[in-house]
Amino acid sequence: MSIHYSRRRVLLHWLSAAIILWALASGFYVAFNPVSASTEHWVGSLNVSLTTLFIPFFLWRAWLFVCEQKSRGAALAGDKRLAFAVHALIYLVIGVVLVTGVLMMKSAINVFGLVRFPQPLADPVLIELANTVHALSCMVLSLLVALHLCAVLWHELSGRRVVRRMFFAKPAGTLQ
Ligand code: HEM
Ligand code: HEM
Repeated sequence: MSIHYSRRRVLLHWLSAAIILWALASGFYVAFNPVSASTEHWVGSLNVSLTTLFIPFFLWRAWLFVCEQKSRGAALAGDKRLAFAVHALIYLVIGVVLVTGVLMMKSAINVFGLVRFPQPLADPVLIELANTVHALSCMVLSLLVALHLCAVLWHELSGRRVVRRMFFAKPAGTLQ
């Protein structure tokens, strides 16, 4: 079966990829390297704003993914089933990263100075737990992204042009 992604699916994929790769790389860089307090502050507030703004886009994208599975109906063949399982796992782990990111906040969530959401939890033990799960799920997500990139590379080297179909959306017969 040949898959074509719709324009919004393609745009959402690259928007998500850019935000997630940036948040993972900069978040781990700041966590594991000696950086100045001002760098830590601007990276922290930029990432909280950016990733909070990303939440509705993620929900939209996850919804399109669920609709695709519903409309497909029939069982998938071997390698397609593996790809589906990894993609579903990526969505699940991104969901955990987003929820725990929000729950670990020790101050109000300030989105680019435009909107403020109150700090959701007060109990320091629960905040610490969310922090631990956030860091662990970010590590799992990094491994899944590395696996995803290896799979994309492997398909391309085997002559299957998967990157092309994630760039050029087809108007007819597309996935949502
Ligand atoms: C795509 C989603 C996200 C990714 C990939 C991501 C990634 C990361 C990474 C890699 C770290 C460093 C982990 C460590 O300490 O080892 C981090 C820390 C953090 N994240 Fe996230 N995050 C995301 C979403 C969020 C959201 C939605 C919030 C809150 C609204 C948030 C708040 C924080 C905070 C407060 C820290 C700790 C910063 C510090 O210790 O100074 N994150 N994040
Ligand atoms: C430069 C980095 C990336 C490249 C080159 C890339 C490439 C691709 C390609 C070619 C596909 C289509 C695969 C197919 O149709 O079989 C795809 C799908 C997908 N990618 Fe990526 N990707 C990148 C980054 C990411 C990141 C960071 C994530 C999430 C953390 C991600 C999540 C997904 C998911 C979930 C799909 C399944 C289709 C969908 O639900 O939209 N990708 N990617």
